[in-house]
Amino acid sequence: MDNPASTPTTPRVGIIMGSDSDLPVMQPAADQLAAFGIPYELTVVSAHRTPERMMEYARTARDRGLQVIIAGAGGAAHLPGMVASVTTLPVIGVPVRSSNSIDGWDSILSILQMPNGVPVATVALNASKNAAILAASILSTSDGRIATRLQEMKDRMREEVLEKARRVEGKA
Ligand code: RP5
Repeated sequence: MDNPASTPTTPRVGIIMGSDSDLPVMQPAADQLAAFGIPYELTVVSAHRTPERMMEYARTARDRGLQVIIAGAGGAAHLPGMVASVTTLPVIGVPVRSSNSIDGWDSILSILQMPNGVPVATVALNASKNAAILAASILSTSDGRIATRLQEMKDRMREEVLEKARRVEGKA
């Protein structure tokens, strides 16, 4: 893995996935981070097909400037847990309902049921957008600009729901 000098665009969040077939599910995470103005990197790292690459990615992540890793995988979804076993960065797992997933539960349980000592913050099935929002929340503890963007998002959501309520009540 490259070790770029730290710049304002040095990726702060690493988005990895077990296969390019996961990209349609994982792309919303990238889009959400972009909307927050958070630099990210996006690539394919397979726990089963490229184990050395996975180890290298996880071992070098912090030194390369990453602060959070979002990892998505489907079926026997070992990528988030194995990355979490190596790095001290927070790892957010996205269970993917992939072509080889029975019904999504295999992906969920593979990522969720980690042993004591090796947590993975697991979001809902295919919920990569929420993974990005959680990553932003983690970064916001030391970055006021991101906290402001999160608050703006919450304010927008509240207004949207109130508008829907007015419509449903026939008041709009
Ligand atoms: C998992 O197997 C990947 O994360 C993907 O969700 C699934 C299927 O991969 P492909 O066979 O499409 O490459 O490891």
